Amino acid sequence: MRLEVDIASKVFANAAGERHEVLRNIAFTLAAGEVGVIVGPSGCGKTTLLRILTGLDHDYQGSVDRAAQARIGMVFQEPRLLPWRSVEDNILLAAPKVDAARLSALLAVLELSAHRSHFPGELSLGLARRVALARALAVEPDFLILDEPFASLDQALAARLRDQIATLLEDRVTTTLLVTHNLDDAVRLGDRLFLLSKRPATLLHALPLRPPRSARSDADITAIKHELARLKPADG
Ligand SMILES: Nc1ncnc2c1ncn2[C@@H]1O[C@H](COP(=O)(O)OP(=O)(O)O)[C@@H](O)[C@H]1O
Ligand SMILES: [Mg+2]
Repeated sequence: MRLEVDIASKVFANAAGERHEVLRNIAFTLAAGEVGVIVGPSGCGKTTLLRILTGLDHDYQGSVDRAAQARIGMVFQEPRLLPWRSVEDNILLAAPKVDAARLSALLAVLELSAHRSHFPGELSLGLARRVALARALAVEPDFLILDEPFASLDQALAARLRDQIATLLEDRVTTTLLVTHNLDDAVRLGDRLFLLSKRPATLLHALPLRPPRSARSDADITAIKHELARLKPADG
């Protein structure tokens, strides 16, 4: 699925009627199967942008073009699992038609096989994130959106989840947008990097990451990060 984004402006009004512009002039396209990574300061408008792209928010100026019948998988910052349903049922409710073998394979890659019958309250944050990811992938999405999937995970766990996502993305052509604060994750997973300014978020840079993901060595990753360090504004 190809995605064309041209958002002129997104404004929130608070209870006092004051208007806050959150997004301004964000235009980019993602080719089918491309992985775009969005990096920007906390509170700049990244989640707001993702909600517009998935069609959860229509109240903005501009346009978003994508195939109307595209299947969308979204992983929110909070895992948002149904607490009274098992891991397996959380996934099956979202993807009732998922093939049993495919579901087992997905759970195996995400190291969730032993947790099928557990309830969300029994899971650590890292596990719950993986369940949310399994749920999003079980629908075989054409467009996958991941909002800070590595936040609040320790480094080793985040690295493992990142590698699991990389494996899963090789599996199917999935146009993907990932939000992360971590440049290492961005450079390891992305085909293109979108750097946003602080609020109102504007697109500061849209950078193709070369060489392609599959051919990117650790030395390449270090070199790209070096490049980026000069562009990325300090945001703490
Ligand atoms: N529903 C809303 N109503 C009013 N303001 C909002 C709403 N959602 C987000 N905002 C504000 O918009 C800005 C961007 O929020 P968000 O997109 O969540 O940022 P990010 O995901 O980049 O951290 C923040 O200042 C936030 O307070
Ligand atoms: Mg956010």
